[in-house]
Amino acid sequence: MAAKIISGNEVAAEIRAELKERVAELKEKGIFPGLGVVLVGEDPASVSYVTSKAKGSQEIGMFEETIRLPADVAEDEVLKVIDNLNKDPKFTGILVQLPLPEHISVEKVINYISPEKDVDGFHPVNLGKLLRGEPCPLPCTPHGVQQLLVRSGNDPSGKHVVVCGRSNIVGKPLAAILMQKAKGANAVVTVVHTGAKDISYYTKQADILVAAMGRPQAITADMVREGTVVIDVGVNRIPDASKKKGFRLAGDVDYGPVSEKASFITPVPGGVGPMTVTMLLYNTVESAIRLSQQQ
Ligand code: GUN
Repeated sequence: MAAKIISGNEVAAEIRAELKERVAELKEKGIFPGLGVVLVGEDPASVSYVTSKAKGSQEIGMFEETIRLPADVAEDEVLKVIDNLNKDPKFTGILVQLPLPEHISVEKVINYISPEKDVDGFHPVNLGKLLRGEPCPLPCTPHGVQQLLVRSGNDPSGKHVVVCGRSNIVGKPLAAILMQKAKGANAVVTVVHTGAKDISYYTKQADILVAAMGRPQAITADMVREGTVVIDVGVNRIPDASKKKGFRLAGDVDYGPVSEKASFITPVPGGVGPMTVTMLLYNTVESAIRLSQQQ
C-alpha cells in the first residue's frame, strides 16, 4: 500500500500562520522579535538557506538582518559581529550559518552566542538543558521532525524511534528530544550510525524511522518494515545536467520503493526542509518573549 505523504510545506504553513498572529499580538504589547543571521562565505546551499530564513521572517512580520562576511574573514571579526548582536536589543535571536570555513572554530563561535539568543539551540548551555529536560530552545531540524510526527497524527509516545545518524545538528538532539518524558515525546529511541555492523537489523525494528545520515538513498526498501513511519532529513545535491540549477535534491531514503512499504513518508524537497526554517522563526519569537520577561 502506498504511504500517506506528510507535507512539510503544509505543516510549516500552519505553524507560520500561528506565528504571524503571535508576532502581531506581541508588537501591540511593545515586544519586537528580531533575527540576526551571520553568513560567512558564499557556499550555495548556505546562501539558499539564509535566503529562506530572511523570506520566512518577512512573511510572519518579523525583523531580520543578514550580516554577510567574506570567506577569508578573521575569526576575531566574526566574534566581534556576534558580540554586537548579543548586545543589540533589536535582535532576540542569533544564528551563524554552518558550515564555517576551516580556519574558524565552530565551537568557539557557537560558545560566543548569548545562550538567551541562541535560536539554533546549539550552545552547550542549551544542549545541557535539553538533556536535563529543562525548558530551552530546541534545535530546529529535530524540533521540526517532532512537529511533523505530532501534527500528522503519529505521536511518538511509546513508539520505537530509530534514528540513523548521530550529528550534533540532527541525530543527537533528536534522540534527546524524543526520549524525554514529555508531551509529543516519551519514545523508546535507538540511534544507529556507521559503527553498527548491520544497520538494517535496527531499522527493521522501527515504528518510526528517521534518516539523517547525509547519504543519498541509503535507506532502501529491504531495510524497512511494512507500515513504518519514515522521516527523511537528507538534503543531498546530486549533479544533474538536465536541471536548470545543474543538480537535483535527493533524500537519504530511496523514496519510490520505500513509499510502497511505509505508512507515512516525508518527501524531499517539501518534507523536513521547510520545517527547519519554521522552527527557527518559532524559537526567535519565543526568545523575544523570554527576553521581555527578564527586563
Ligand atoms: N547548516 C545546516 N543546518 C543548519 C542549522 O540548523 N543551523 C545552522 N546555523 N546552520 C545549519
